[in-house]
Amino acid sequence: MANRSFWNVNQGPAIIRTVGVLLMGFLAMSYDMWGGYVAMLPHVMKPTAWLAFALFIMAFTASSVQILFPGSYGRWAMKNRRYIGLSFALVHFIHAGLVLSNLALTEASRTAGELSGGGLAYVFLGLMAITSNNASVRKLGAKNWKRLHKVGSYYIWLIFVARSFGELPGNLPSGGVIIVVGLTALMFRTSARRKLKT
Ligand code: HEM
Repeated sequence: MANRSFWNVNQGPAIIRTVGVLLMGFLAMSYDMWGGYVAMLPHVMKPTAWLAFALFIMAFTASSVQILFPGSYGRWAMKNRRYIGLSFALVHFIHAGLVLSNLALTEASRTAGELSGGGLAYVFLGLMAITSNNASVRKLGAKNWKRLHKVGSYYIWLIFVARSFGELPGNLPSGGVIIVVGLTALMFRTSARRKLKT
C-alpha cells in the first residue's frame, strides 16, 4: 500500500489555504490587541516579512535540499514547491499592503531608492506568481520560464539580504538570522549545482 504520510502527499492548494488562515488570524488578533488598523501596523510589518522569508527560503532551497540531503522533507518540498512559492507571494503582497498603508496613514516615509528597489522585487514576484502554472510554462517555453523564475528569485533573495545588511546592527537579532539563513541557502544552491556536475 502506498505510504500516505504527510511527507508523501502533495498538499497543493491546502498550503496556501493554511498560510492564508494563519495570516488572517494573526492580523485579526493584532487588530484586536492593538485597538485598530493604524495602531497595529508597526507591530505586523516585521512578522509578515519573516513569514514571507521562511516560505521563500523553503521554495528557494527545495531542490538543493533534496539533492544534498535526499529524504522526506526534500521530497515534500519539491512536490509542493509551486504552492509554497504562491504562499510566499500571498504573504509578501500582504506585507506590501501593510507597508503602503503605513506610508499613507502615518508620518512614516521611505526614499525613492528604497521604494524602487523593493518595488522591482514585487514586479518579479507578481510575474512569478501569475506564471506559476503549467499553461504559462507551455506558453513561455521551459527555458524562458526558468530564466524568469531564476532571475526573480535571486533578486528577491538579494533584497532580503541587502536590506538586512543595510539595517545592521539596529535590526539584530532578526536581521542577523535573515543574513545567515539567506547565505546558507545560497551555499546549498551552489553546492547542489556542483554535486550535479560531478
Ligand atoms: C516598497 C518596498 C518596501 C517597503 C517600503 C518596506 C518597508 C518595510 C517596513 C516599514 C518594515 C518594518 C520595519 C520595522 O518595523 O522596523 C519592513 C520589514 C521587512 N521587510 Fe519590507 N518593505 C518593502 C519591500 C520589501 C521586500 C521586497 C522585501 C524582501 C524581498 C522586504 C523584506 C523585509 C524584511 C525582511 C523585513 C523585516 C526586517 C527585520 O526584521 O529586520 N520588504 N519592510
